[in-house]
Amino acid sequence: MSKQDILTVEDVFCMLDSKLADQAKQWDNFYSERWAKAPFIIHPELPDENIKEYFSSGLITPKTVLELGCGEGRNAVYMARQGCEVTAVDLSEAAIDNAKTFSKNSNCNVNFICASIFELGNKTYDFVYDSGCFHHLPPHRRITYVELLRRTLNQGGYFGLTCFAWGDKCADEVTDWEYYEKRRVGVAFTKEKLEQIFCEDFEVVEMRKYKDGKEGTLQGLGFMWTALFKKK
Ligand SMILES: C[S@@+](CC[C@H](N)C(=O)[O-])C[C@H]1O[C@@H](n2cnc3c(N)ncnc32)[C@H](O)[C@@H]1O
Repeated sequence: MSKQDILTVEDVFCMLDSKLADQAKQWDNFYSERWAKAPFIIHPELPDENIKEYFSSGLITPKTVLELGCGEGRNAVYMARQGCEVTAVDLSEAAIDNAKTFSKNSNCNVNFICASIFELGNKTYDFVYDSGCFHHLPPHRRITYVELLRRTLNQGGYFGLTCFAWGDKCADEVTDWEYYEKRRVGVAFTKEKLEQIFCEDFEVVEMRKYKDGKEGTLQGLGFMWTALFKKK
């Protein structure tokens, strides 16, 4: 069988992935040139404001957490500090190296894994969090993404998402078909689109814009949705 045979749905996804840029390499470059390219992540040690609010208000009290596309580990370390057993995954070796250093310097124990989220096994968690990874995935990968959530979340578990909002001119405001034709920085979502993708499996606990200005949290993300879903 040649690498280019298409015999399964996964083969179709792999072929479509290969037509897009080399994601891991792009992200490695991003982290090595981060100061120039991502001025909004100027405090890579601070957590998202919504994550801090979920924990401090007692809205969620997970024992086990999986973070998808954890970058340099700012949210993973925050959740470990809240007493959670955290596994955090990212494609970029540069990001995971920085995350391990940050976690060690913070005296935290996080299980960092350098891999694609689509290579994860069947271990289950009380809370799965994604800050800024989902909106970089091509539309065909949303199918496997929802499957991943189904198999990695415990019954009644929570899924948290922070992603680009449509209408804020912060990312590509394109249809799923247009994504494959136009240049991509990341996909912007409407509330309705997020509901369409997730609400067969999840109920919305809250969906709102990111609140800038909260002490001890990352600033400059007011153009993002934050959403908390509960597995049905
Ligand atoms: C915008 S960054 C956000 C990083 C981090 N969550 C934060 O907010 O600081 C998106 C991250 O998703 C990661 N990523 C993208 N696609 C991925 C995949 N298929 N599997 C694992 N990580 C992925 C990238 O390497 C990158 O670190």
